[in-house]
Amino acid sequence: MKKIISLVLVALIAVSCVMGLTACGGSKTAEVKELHMATNAAFEPYEYYKNKKIVGIDAEIAQAICDKLGYKLVIDDMDFDAIITAVTSGKADFGMAGMTVTDERKKAVDFTDSYTTTTQVIIVNEKDSKVKNADDLETATIGVQRGTTGDVYVSDLKKAKIERFNTGPDAVLALTKGKVDAVVIDGQPAKEFVKKNAGTKILSDPFAKEEYAICLAKNSDLTAEFNKALGELKKDGTIDKINAKYIKE
Ligand code: ARG
Repeated sequence: MKKIISLVLVALIAVSCVMGLTACGGSKTAEVKELHMATNAAFEPYEYYKNKKIVGIDAEIAQAICDKLGYKLVIDDMDFDAIITAVTSGKADFGMAGMTVTDERKKAVDFTDSYTTTTQVIIVNEKDSKVKNADDLETATIGVQRGTTGDVYVSDLKKAKIERFNTGPDAVLALTKGKVDAVVIDGQPAKEFVKKNAGTKILSDPFAKEEYAICLAKNSDLTAEFNKALGELKKDGTIDKINAKYIKE
């Protein structure tokens, strides 16, 4: 008798699983698709750790896009120069990391519409800096984050010596120790670095103008979805609100 009852029970559960009446083995949760975002979370105010969680402008915009489109956001932290490969290999669904749109990158990935305009700047030590303007970079030792547009720009300077670091903070640390003469990096993170490193400053010469966007695999169906969500978030003021929360000036 016991055997029959348990057989009937098993059969009932199986049927209700198939009919979708019972949450069995994660079949319910699998309905919310996860999207993996590849980033490099050492780039305040765009992506950085706060209480062991990745926060920042990009993290919040990505969350707002996923909320709108009905995806669960998962953020994967990695080296900046690993992001595009993560996206092209399908390990990540999109890359968002204060990433500048460039023609070179467009050969490998597609970009959404841009969500920010910014510039590259030069950080130097306040005292006795060898670099006083952009021209002085020509013969300087320059620190950059590996694989960034800052890296690409200074790599054109034939007489300069380039030191490439895993993160922006590593490059700035080298500057404070006098191991490099200047750091070329994005304007907004530069302000955060200077705030945290007494004795450093940003030169008034801005470097190059850039646009940030989200990168996705070539011809991904997600790109149109993202652009639609991004457009709505721009229109209804969400993007402005997120920027204002992290950039106070
Ligand atoms: N905007 C620059 C680039 O695309 C630097 C981005 C660095 N981002 C980061 N999360 N570390 O190359």
